[in-house]
Amino acid sequence: MSTPRCPHQPPRARHLISTAPPLQSTLRTCDWLKLARSLPDGCLDLIYVDPPFNTGVRKSLRAAGYDDRWPDLPAYLDWIGLRLAESRRLLKDSGSLLLHCDWRAVHHLRLLLDELFTPDRFVNHLVWRYGLGGSSPRRFARKHDDILFYSKTKQYFFEPPLIPAESQRLAGQMKKATDVLDVPSLNNMATERSGYPTQKPEALLRLLIQAACPPAGAVADFCCGSGTTLVAAKRLGRHYLGCDTNPAAVKIARARLRRTTTEESVFESTDCP
Ligand SMILES: C[S@@+](CC[C@H](N)C(=O)[O-])C[C@H]1O[C@@H](n2cnc3c(N)ncnc32)[C@H](O)[C@@H]1O
Repeated sequence: MSTPRCPHQPPRARHLISTAPPLQSTLRTCDWLKLARSLPDGCLDLIYVDPPFNTGVRKSLRAAGYDDRWPDLPAYLDWIGLRLAESRRLLKDSGSLLLHCDWRAVHHLRLLLDELFTPDRFVNHLVWRYGLGGSSPRRFARKHDDILFYSKTKQYFFEPPLIPAESQRLAGQMKKATDVLDVPSLNNMATERSGYPTQKPEALLRLLIQAACPPAGAVADFCCGSGTTLVAAKRLGRHYLGCDTNPAAVKIARARLRRTTTEESVFESTDCP
């Protein structure tokens, strides 16, 4: 039987829309590995994970926090390698992984993902340039995080995000985003601030989800923290699956999800047969 066509999908992406029954959106208090092991092969369009970065400290903000300490780098890589391997199994053939990390582990994680996905499946090294933070007299100020983008196969879903052009020549027009994403980090006054440490801006997740997950597809975040990925996915009409070992994080994420509604415009663009 032929797959019904969705008239709203751009031609390039249309053949990558899965006809598999959609997963129920879910949010659990559990380990990444536990949720990943409970899911069937090939069920996800996008995995975005923003795990602890192995900073060697406990990350805390007021009452909320989580431990970000491992005995050494090999122990951290063993911990994350096991979980990433299990996660790769969950991707559809058109699916992708976005792994958020920073200068501490990015090069080690690139090698680890090359092994899991093969170097051919490396798509981008995205730089999230956020601006805020201090400076140092001893080195260049660190003002970005890294997001490693791998696809499961060559036939992965991708819709280039459009952002406002900056040049005089293209003033007022939109252009395709590059691999350097200029999205401001959350300042203390931001209304979306949840009080959870290392919360990422919803604008960053919106951009990534729209680029790498088809409409009505399924996005998972196995270290969801305050639930930014899940909130952005819900707003954009994607199914979301999330977990965190920290009950305080899950409580915040649940409250944010309750307040989140799916955007009207999503129904127009995903109202496919
Ligand atoms: C960098 S924070 C995520 C922040 C999130 N992106 C946000 O916007 O709020 C990392 C999260 O990973 C969680 N975590 C640590 N180990 C975990 C594990 N084994 N399974 C699931 N979550 C874990 C921590 O509790 C923490 O909330």
